[in-house]
Amino acid sequence: MQERFKNLRIIKDLLPFLWTKEEKIRSLFIFAFGLIFISIGLDLSIPLVLKEVVSCLAIPDQSMTYQLSLLLIAYGIIWTLSQVIQNVRQIIMVKPLESCIRLFCSKFFDHLHSLPMTFHMDRKTGALTNALERAQHGFPDVFWGLFLFVIPTIIELFLAAAILCYFYGAIYGVLLLFIATVFIIFTLYVTKWASHFQTMCNDQKSKTNANIVDSLLNFTSVKYFNNKEHEVLKCDIHLKKRENLLVKYTSTMELVQIGQNLIIGAGLILLTYTAGKQTLLNVYDVSDFVLINGYVLQFAAPLGQMGFIARNMRRGLNEFSDIMKIYRTNRSPSLSSGDSYSPDKLESIEFKNVSFGYNSSRLVLNDVSFTLDAGKTIGIVGETGSGKSTISSLLFKFYDVNSGKIFINNKDIQNLDSSSLYKFLGIVPQDVTLFNTSIYENILFGRPSAQKEEVEEAIKLAHLEPFLKKLPDHYDTIVGERGLKLSGGEKQRIAIARVLLKRPALYVFDEATSSLDLKTEETIMNNIAPLLKNSTFLIIAHRLSTVVNADEILVLHNGVVRERGTHRSLLKEEGNYALLWKAQEEAHKKFYAA
Ligand SMILES: Nc1ncnc2c1ncn2[C@@H]1O[C@H](COP(=O)(O)OP(=O)(O)OP(=O)(O)O)[C@@H](O)[C@H]1O
Ligand SMILES: [Mg+2]
Repeated sequence: MQERFKNLRIIKDLLPFLWTKEEKIRSLFIFAFGLIFISIGLDLSIPLVLKEVVSCLAIPDQSMTYQLSLLLIAYGIIWTLSQVIQNVRQIIMVKPLESCIRLFCSKFFDHLHSLPMTFHMDRKTGALTNALERAQHGFPDVFWGLFLFVIPTIIELFLAAAILCYFYGAIYGVLLLFIATVFIIFTLYVTKWASHFQTMCNDQKSKTNANIVDSLLNFTSVKYFNNKEHEVLKCDIHLKKRENLLVKYTSTMELVQIGQNLIIGAGLILLTYTAGKQTLLNVYDVSDFVLINGYVLQFAAPLGQMGFIARNMRRGLNEFSDIMKIYRTNRSPSLSSGDSYSPDKLESIEFKNVSFGYNSSRLVLNDVSFTLDAGKTIGIVGETGSGKSTISSLLFKFYDVNSGKIFINNKDIQNLDSSSLYKFLGIVPQDVTLFNTSIYENILFGRPSAQKEEVEEAIKLAHLEPFLKKLPDHYDTIVGERGLKLSGGEKQRIAIARVLLKRPALYVFDEATSSLDLKTEETIMNNIAPLLKNSTFLIIAHRLSTVVNADEILVLHNGVVRERGTHRSLLKEEGNYALLWKAQEEAHKKFYAA
């Protein structure tokens, strides 16, 4: 898309955040615009008053008349008022602009959480946070510039040209507009060229940040493999590229400014020379020369400033372009669709001939069917990569199935509003990640409205007490980024407590106890046995002992259900399950014999 249209589209997309429904914000905007017109009027009257002052002073033997004193004082007052109003205007605009940034950022944050799983899988967190930060800075650049400089300066310019035309004929007005036009065209074209370097700079900044964040997230691997030098070198290569691009960009911007100043300088010479010559020829008197010069000088400064503002605006728009690309990415269709059918009781879950692949070249699940009635438990076992976790992702509508259907209470989940779907589901995921807050807050996340006693009850059920007792800060201990300061088993128990606090109708346990020793697993299972009676469970496990009591066990192999039945019937079948069971039993016996 053409650069100009791209920028216009960004402004158009952002305008609704500026013109909000909030009455107070709108009034502030209108007030600020009112002040803009007042200060334009004041600015334009300064050279006119000065002309009158010079006319009075030019009369020989003039004494300090009442009129002259008034004019001299008015000249100072008008100038002061104009400056003060400009400052007040800036103060008034702060609130609407900052609230606009807030509205945009929270909408964008909401949008990020609504994007499909595929977006988050490809996402580079460092690059994303960098782009968001740049957009926050870019916002004021765009709108301060537009409302406080560009629009007022253009209006003022036309009015000044009209005044010059009125007093001295078309020549001065046309000249003034001609210089301004050359200046604006030059600025638009050259900053467009320079913004190309800025885009490269932004890309590199994002890459550099993504690299730093990725490296820090993997700091344990860096330590284990003693690869610090390698990482520092990689980071330095990125920083070097960023440095080179920034030098190039800043120098081009300075060159642009030189060009802009040359245009203003040439205009200044042209206008003052013409006016000076005509004053010598007695076509005009000195006061006219002062007036013409006043307008010329009055525009030299704002035009120079406008050049700077225009560059900032373009930079601001550029900063925004990455974020707007994401902002325009469609939200997850499956998450946002749904006819808000919100059942209050779970009756059954059914996978009917479900086939699915993350990409078109490989099916990960092939014709999987099963029914899980309320109050029952299904166990899913199978070798690594056979598609077990994928089943839970599909149940959460993270991806759309290729064929087949998933039903909850005989309703296709495609048509089910996602928030009512999530009310039913609770999961202990295979990779437990925690927020970098306290253990208590992480558990409370399961149901933020829960009472303290309920959190403590969940802690007991998940057998976390013995661990928490060892901690000086008990459950107020901070868990570190993604729960880094905890052991695998401790994280799993927090995740179990979190889901127990939620009390969903269906519990999905994806290797929920894989990092726990058998004794702890048994204690937890005993603790939650009363729950098991009334709730529905989908338990994914490698350790077959975890699923022996399930009402049905599915044995997955390469995305296909190879065997199914109860533990007993599967043993009788003497298939893969029976072989695996024997192997695990023997290993278990050997371990305890040793
Ligand atoms: N987001 C993804 N994009 C592409 N492929 C994926 C994605 N997630 C999983 N896969 C692939 O899908 C297959 C099934 O993965 P899944 O996580 O369901 O296996 P699993 O049975 O849970 O394995 P494990 O027992 O190791 O947890 C794997 O081959 C995996 O590489
Ligand atoms: Mg898995």
